[in-house]
Amino acid sequence: MCGIVGFVGTEQAAPILLDGLERLEYRGYDSAGIAVLSEKNGLQVRKSKGRLKVLKALVDGGRTMDGVLGVGHTRWATHGEPNDINSHPHLSQDSHIAVVHNGIIENYMEIKEFLLSQGVEFRSETDTEVVAQLLAYYYRLSGDLMGSVYRVLHRIEGAYALGILCSDLPDAFIAARKDAPLLLGYGEGCNFIASDVTAVIKHTRDVSYMEDGEVAVVRADGIQVYNAMGQPVEKTHSFIDWDVSAAEKGGYEHFMFKEIMEQPEAVRKTISPRIKEGRICFEELKMTPEEIREIGKIFIVACGSSYHVGMVGKYNLERLLRRPVDIMLASEFRYADPLVDEDTLVIVISQSGETLDSMAALREARKLGARILSIVNVVGSSIARESDDVLYTWAGPEIAVATTKAYSTQLIVLDMLGMYFAEVLGTIDRGNYDAIVSELQALPYKMEEVLENKETIQYLASRYFNHDSVFYIGRNLDFALGLESSLKLKEISYVHSEAYASGELKHGTISLIEDGTLVVALGTYVPLFDKAMSNIVEVKARGADIVALTTDSKKEEMRKTVENVLTVPDTHIILEPSLGIIPMQLFAYYVALQRGCDIDKPRNLAKSVTVE
Ligand code: AGP
Ligand code: GLU
Repeated sequence: MCGIVGFVGTEQAAPILLDGLERLEYRGYDSAGIAVLSEKNGLQVRKSKGRLKVLKALVDGGRTMDGVLGVGHTRWATHGEPNDINSHPHLSQDSHIAVVHNGIIENYMEIKEFLLSQGVEFRSETDTEVVAQLLAYYYRLSGDLMGSVYRVLHRIEGAYALGILCSDLPDAFIAARKDAPLLLGYGEGCNFIASDVTAVIKHTRDVSYMEDGEVAVVRADGIQVYNAMGQPVEKTHSFIDWDVSAAEKGGYEHFMFKEIMEQPEAVRKTISPRIKEGRICFEELKMTPEEIREIGKIFIVACGSSYHVGMVGKYNLERLLRRPVDIMLASEFRYADPLVDEDTLVIVISQSGETLDSMAALREARKLGARILSIVNVVGSSIARESDDVLYTWAGPEIAVATTKAYSTQLIVLDMLGMYFAEVLGTIDRGNYDAIVSELQALPYKMEEVLENKETIQYLASRYFNHDSVFYIGRNLDFALGLESSLKLKEISYVHSEAYASGELKHGTISLIEDGTLVVALGTYVPLFDKAMSNIVEVKARGADIVALTTDSKKEEMRKTVENVLTVPDTHIILEPSLGIIPMQLFAYYVALQRGCDIDKPRNLAKSVTVE
């Protein structure tokens, strides 16, 4: 989870490491630390619980740590509470080895017991410390550092991105990865490792992605990479072409707000290259029309908001393809013995492309023989690399923990994929196809229109921000939209909320509705508008305060029953969630703002969830 950055060059390492960690802050963390190595001062480690600014103050912006070689870490605690001692880097007992680690060492207990029996003393409660101690133990026995690194990697189980410093190796650090992201950055007279490109983009755009099992020795004048057998590997380099400013706030108070505002452009970028002469085309798709026709069943797996995209996708794909579409949370899929075989297309949706649960589901699906297509935002990420087909969402870097523009672009790619398959399968008529394509092209403009009308949302947020509990209700696509709307509110404002299929309320939840309960009623799915209205009347009769969302064409009708009505333009029904989500993101944002929450970095959450 969270972040690693490593640097070796001619400049002082500590300020560069702190700056890199700052750029990884968005990933979510609870403590931070750095280790710097110099011939004069040896291995120096500083770390602390809490925000990076605490660490920065501790080392006076890096000025108190001399050395041109070092590694830094932001921790999201899995083993041992967040405190100064459990923060990384972890040192071996003899203080010759320092280790930073993202991920989980699953068999750490057994290794710890072994080392304890050998007289090794531990300082922290973390799983990570065993890596530092075991490496020092093997190294003491053999005197061969690289050989000992490999011995450790063969012995530990679980997921890891590792950065290792050893005082006997004064000009290099070692990196290793398995099931946790780590990339190599090639600079001029300096080199880097990092969990993602945001940490190094200021210094270099020339990167390569480490593969599982690889080990790298990083020096100022070059990086040598070895595979799991210790043989040298030639890495393919990637050029990062996005602007540094894309990962900066650019005058906005929060990344989340900036990213909400960027949605029309992100969606435009995702749509336009894929519509040619009125037809949807995915040039990057390797699947042939025959292979598409052979798909027996589609299975969508994802987590969180990406799963909510899948919920919209289930409704839309079944409607467009007349084929069964199953959906399961990635964390459940792996252990559910899912009904997946060679005829199944498994669609994995992930912004980061590094979510461990989704990755594990992908591997399970592959084992079962399925073909894997992923919808991913981060180019070169693990999920992208392990899929048969990848459709990228061109949302650009998403920094706020709560996803907005990635969600919107995922939705579009999934809808367009459905359209593309439907044309191949002949399950869509020409008129409907053309209508959807033309609405797809109009969508970015309609999104801009929604974003221009923020005032009412802001007003409603200031009226209702102190409610403790909110219900989002809707039918069909509005239910799927409610799931994401509710998650947005929960994540950033810490207000409890639930999304309910409106028709299901009377089977239990309606007992919770009383005077003053806030119900956000979603009524953008026009075919079921009247049904949605009946459910709104039911909760109104029980005293609920209602904020309703509907389309321009239904606004007057809605106003007859509800005082607070938000609207979005009409579009093709399958695309309506792409407009409906925007006022809901803004509502969550303004509520969180009123409540004084840390919007970009909500408590306990991480952007990239690389633990199970
Ligand atoms: C979204 O706002 C959340 N932070 C979270 O639910 C996220 O969607 C989930 O962790 C999946 O991440 P991914 O898309 O990077 O796989
Ligand atoms: N499992 C390690 C710990 O709890 C690393 C957590 C992380 O990925 O930040 O210290």
